[in-house]
Amino acid sequence: MGAVSLRWDEIEAEHASLLNALLRIRVLAAESKLSAAVLLPACLDLVRRFEEHFSHEERIMAAAAYPEAVAHHRHHQVLLARLLAICSRMTKEETVEIEQLQLALQTLFDDAIGVDAPFREFLEQKS
Ligand SMILES: [Fe+2]
Ligand SMILES: [Fe+2]
Repeated sequence: MGAVSLRWDEIEAEHASLLNALLRIRVLAAESKLSAAVLLPACLDLVRRFEEHFSHEERIMAAAAYPEAVAHHRHHQVLLARLLAICSRMTKEETVEIEQLQLALQTLFDDAIGVDAPFREFLEQKS
């Protein structure tokens, strides 16, 4: 029982840290006066953080024999592609529209967290 809830705690801690990274981008956007050149490295760092989180989560899913693991992996790939598309817009423009950026990142985050709910239920049922 303990091991299962511990694993979910790890996932939750990573979700909280990803949310903090999103909030930092908002602050950075304000401080840099919406400079795309300043925000691009932060956006690429966010890609790396999401990649790490997704692969960690997928290792936990594999260890728990989660039946939806393959579909979930595909969804993670879609989310990464969406995030990369957000970053690549910054390579083409000098400034970013912060409301648009924030909405895109928040929507992506909500989607990423939302689809984890069935996995949480699965882990709870196993415990
Ligand atoms: Fe997650
Ligand atoms: Fe996930």
